[in-house]
Order: sequence, then C-alpha cells, then structure tokens
Amino acid sequence: MTYPIYLIGYMGAGKTTVGRLLAERLGWHFVDLDDAFHEIHGLSPADYIRTYGIEAFRRKEKYVLEDLAELPIEKVVYATGGGYPCWEDNMECLKELGTSFYLRWQPQHLAERLALTDLNERPLLHGKGATEILEVIRPQLEARAPFYEQADYILDAPVADVLDGSEDEQLAEQLYELIMTD
Ligand code: S3P
Repeated sequence: MTYPIYLIGYMGAGKTTVGRLLAERLGWHFVDLDDAFHEIHGLSPADYIRTYGIEAFRRKEKYVLEDLAELPIEKVVYATGGGYPCWEDNMECLKELGTSFYLRWQPQHLAERLALTDLNERPLLHGKGATEILEVIRPQLEARAPFYEQADYILDAPVADVLDGSEDEQLAEQLYELIMTD
C-alpha cells in the first residue's frame, strides 16, 4: 500500500471523524482538506462556494490537495472534500499520489447523519430538511458513485436499521486493520 491515505465519500460519510481516529491510532498526521482550503484561501469551502461559485471552488480545491502532496511527509491521513474525486482527473491524481478508501453509505443513513449537522457549512444542502436532503443525495450519490468506486478500497459502513453512533469508530477500526495487515 502506498502512502498517504485519502478518505473519500459523500458529505456526512465521516471522512473527518474516521480520518482523525485512524490517524490517532496509527500515530500519523491528519489533514482535513476543507480546513486546509480555509487556511490557504481565507474562506471556508462553504463561503468560497457562496462567494465565487462551485467551479471556482473546484479549481482551487484541486491545487490545495496537489500542493500538499508535494510535502515530503508520507504518513498522513487526508479527509478529502466530498466532491473532490468527481472533478476532472482528480480521481486519477488521488490514485497516483497514494491509496484511496471510499467510505460507502446508504443514502438514507447519510441523510440521517447530515440532518444532525450544521447545514450552513454545506451549501449544497443548506435550508433543507431530512426528507429534502435525501431527495438531493439520491441522484447526486448515483452520479458520484462511478468516481468514488474507483477507489483502491471500498469500505461499507455498518448496515443497521438504526444508527447507534459507533459507526465511525467501527470504520476507523476496519481501516486500521486493513492498513496494518497490508
Ligand atoms: C462538498 C463537500 C464539502 C466541501 C464542499 C463541497 C461536496 O466537504 O468540500 O462544501 O461537493 O460534496 P465534506 O464532504 O467534507 O463535507
């Protein structure tokens, strides 16, 4: 397995939480690329999208990830932005730069998790209730799946009728085992 590690997946997939837990367990660095974007450009992705539009954001987001990859540090877990892999040749870049893991969830579970978060920070879903979130997610996830599924590894989130909040820990543990046994 080549390093660094890139976690990809839809908004609400737990890329940041799982990534942080995994990096802690491995004793590696953790970088959230939305936070890195904010530091470099002075605006959060949400504010940047609101101000300059999604295309401008995607162009900048691409170079944030690629510039950080130039750093001579390999033991890093990166949480990517949810739309990153689905833009231009970004998925190919990820695969060349390191190892990618898709955190795959059922859309209804993503909607459930997203409804509990601050949607101000998620301009694509802002102002929507849980049912409307699901209506946005379904087609978007379907359109994004062919990109996400090019990941080197796909990890399915635990399937249960009711989420109990331990899913992120379980995913981090699964990832840790995968990396350690490689
Ligand atoms: C986006 C996801 C966000 C952020 C931006 C666009 C998307 O990141 O990069 O708002 O298109 O799915 P998270 O997946 O970390 O929420």
